[in-house]
Amino acid sequence: MTYFEIIKTLLKEDRSIRRFDTSRPIMPETLESLVELTRYCASGRNLQPLRYRIVCDPDERRSLFPLLAWAGYLPDWDGPEESERPAAYLVQCLDTTLAANCLCDDGLQLQAITLAARALGIGSCILKAFDPKKVADALAIDPGYQPRYVLALGYPVEHVEIEDMKDGDIKYYRTPDAVHHVPKRPLSDLLI
Ligand SMILES: Cc1cc2nc3c(=O)[nH]c(=O)nc-3n(C[C@H](O)[C@H](O)[C@H](O)COP(=O)(O)O)c2cc1C
Repeated sequence: MTYFEIIKTLLKEDRSIRRFDTSRPIMPETLESLVELTRYCASGRNLQPLRYRIVCDPDERRSLFPLLAWAGYLPDWDGPEESERPAAYLVQCLDTTLAANCLCDDGLQLQAITLAARALGIGSCILKAFDPKKVADALAIDPGYQPRYVLALGYPVEHVEIEDMKDGDIKYYRTPDAVHHVPKRPLSDLLI
């Protein structure tokens, strides 16, 4: 495969995963190696103001989970049941002593991490629906570090398919076979 084909394949396979095999741990060293990749990302003003808190410990995972909101378009689903919860999390934080914002560094780094995780067979879901203060308190994160995103990680037990969007309907949905479907706009909609 060419680099282009590898990147396209990884992007297509890098779906948001919300159901994991909780019994399969992810080692802290693996999480560190994912964070290490962010060193090579572009950074506005080259400030590099993002930090990561690794969450593997079962007690910390139990504290963090109820603070997160899952799959807003699936109103009848409260998030993964106990045996399908994330095996680990990365809490991406802004070092507010360096900057009040991080331009788009956060998204660039999350994409780098999720693609690399996918290459290792690890699924992930970027989460923004949480109260940063509650997350910081639950994990005793220093007040100078502001949680920006939580990345949930684990080995996937759910199947996700992308499909062409119909009639502008952006909502993902699940079919009775538990397959999660994600509509994507066609290229013709993206070009202006
Ligand atoms: C900035 C951002 C914030 C998100 N926040 C949440 C969230 O709080 N909860 C959740 O379940 N999914 C969240 N997601 C995942 C999106 O719902 C998901 O990316 C979208 O449905 C498209 O699916 P895909 O990632 O498989 O392409 C977030 C994604 C992004 C990029």
